[in-house]
Amino acid sequence: MEYRGYDSAGIAVLDQGTIHWRKKAGKITNLDAELAARPLPVSGTGIGHSRWATHGGPTDQNAHPHLGGAGRVALVHNGIIENFAALRAELGAQGVVFTSETDTEAAAALLGRELEQGADLAEGMRRVCRRLEGAFTLVAVDAADPGRVVAARRNSPLMVGVGEGENFVASDVSAFIEFTRHAIELGQDQVVDVHVDSIVVTDFEGRPAPTKPFEVTWDLSAAEKAGYDWFMRKEIFEQPQAVADTLLGRYTAEGALQLDELHIGEDELRRIDKIIIVACGSAYYAGLVAKYAIEHWTRVACEVEIASEFRYRDPIIDGSTLVVTISQSGETADTLMAIRHAREQGAKVIAICNTNGATIPRESDAVLYTHAGPEIGVASTKGFLTQVAACYLLGLYLAQVRGTMYDDEIAAVMDELAATPALIQQVLDSLEPIRELAIRLVNKDSVLFLGRHVGYPVALEGALKLKEIAYLHAEGFPAGELKHGPIALVDDGVPVFVVVPPQGRDQLHDKVVSNIQEVRARGAFTVVVAEEGDPEVAAYADVLFGLPKVSTLLQPLLAAVPLQMFACEVATLKGYDVDQPRNLAKSVTVE
Ligand code: M6R
Repeated sequence: MEYRGYDSAGIAVLDQGTIHWRKKAGKITNLDAELAARPLPVSGTGIGHSRWATHGGPTDQNAHPHLGGAGRVALVHNGIIENFAALRAELGAQGVVFTSETDTEAAAALLGRELEQGADLAEGMRRVCRRLEGAFTLVAVDAADPGRVVAARRNSPLMVGVGEGENFVASDVSAFIEFTRHAIELGQDQVVDVHVDSIVVTDFEGRPAPTKPFEVTWDLSAAEKAGYDWFMRKEIFEQPQAVADTLLGRYTAEGALQLDELHIGEDELRRIDKIIIVACGSAYYAGLVAKYAIEHWTRVACEVEIASEFRYRDPIIDGSTLVVTISQSGETADTLMAIRHAREQGAKVIAICNTNGATIPRESDAVLYTHAGPEIGVASTKGFLTQVAACYLLGLYLAQVRGTMYDDEIAAVMDELAATPALIQQVLDSLEPIRELAIRLVNKDSVLFLGRHVGYPVALEGALKLKEIAYLHAEGFPAGELKHGPIALVDDGVPVFVVVPPQGRDQLHDKVVSNIQEVRARGAFTVVVAEEGDPEVAAYADVLFGLPKVSTLLQPLLAAVPLQMFACEVATLKGYDVDQPRNLAKSVTVE
């Protein structure tokens, strides 16, 4: 099981009725070194995992596999078990002693208990799955049942590789494509029981389940990108899952937002009189989106600052300032320096970060992790969208704590947020015409992006994507600012992308429609991103992209997607390395 992780790794094998295991924090080379120093017995049955920490830091102890049933079972897990705290309490009361901080160990202990009570590995796994809430892929072995591996999935991927004299289960075909191209994709809520010569798939109740066999047609290097030409394109398509994972487990059945990782007391959050968001690049644009939402929901003044400018302007900060920092990598030097300065001045710092255990969350008072999984393409895509989603969660949480929104108002936004992954998927499914548009515009010298309100940061983000991977001059403007200067750039055929707010806030919407007319009257080629069926815009759009209906504040989660894909297509047509554009690095660790 690999898929998302690279912060620790482990392996367990069966030999003569005993489970032997090794696990190590850090890159997989650390595990290699450990195995070279302390080799495992040769075995025909084993499981392995590389981790991307969610519950508990990236330490040797928290690395998988985890053991259950007094060492009888070993289990690895991808995903998040939402009800793990209740399960750990229940098992703890029965005398189970946990050795890690993970949610996974609760599943391992539950499985061990089922086997002790007489279930075999497959039935034990089904019983465990019936008790788990959240997202999980589990893979387990039983010391008393060699030659067998049982795996299960819910909301997290699982593939079976059908070999000759050998079979595999994995989070992705890339793990076994070296050995077989015959694969089976497991469906939702299914358990697979694998022996060397048989593969049996059931649902969680033990009923035979339909399977989806397929042939893998990619070569090994392409499989690492799951068949996509670029990591960026893959990451664009991962956005529905990434946003869903970021929202997962943050809202209780009783209707309260719970941000467990946020170790700043509620009283302290009530005392705050100003919020300053500091970040760089796309993360800064996510912060600009957040400002609109946070101020609207909490009525606390919120400033957004480019991190590299922050400490040089002697910002006004004290103990009642909350600094929110946003960083995908958690290692951006400008951002790190900004939060150090903020803490020296007495502010509390909350980090929104995608990388568990990175320096920025370590040096912050609290952290809210986005669960986007590793982002490899230098151009941030799922990183940006999950940062926006996490900012919404933080804004709503502050509103809950400070009592600036009623519970039913928070619930309404949370319901809408929960629906966005499916809407992002709808946008992704409708992107085919973007390639045509890219072919049409690939030779242009300059592209302008306009937006108002939260559409303005989306315009900035669309322009940044085009600059960084397609090396094409692009600028984003607040649509209303156009007439104060930038409209002089508009000439015959200049492409102008316009992000139109959803219908409903008529003043805002109508103003942007007027701005489209203004640039069109001066010869612009207009590409309009607007709500599907918006009757006001079609007449002024040379090309129109429809977005599903969503409220104004949440629209960035949808509107950014066609702009990301446009940049990816233009860069591809130009023959550039989309994932590693010139002069850039994924994490910028110098000021
Ligand atoms: O890792 P961070 O989120 O701190 O990175 C911040 C920026 O360097 C980053 O967003 C950069 O602008 C991206 N390449 C944009 O696509």
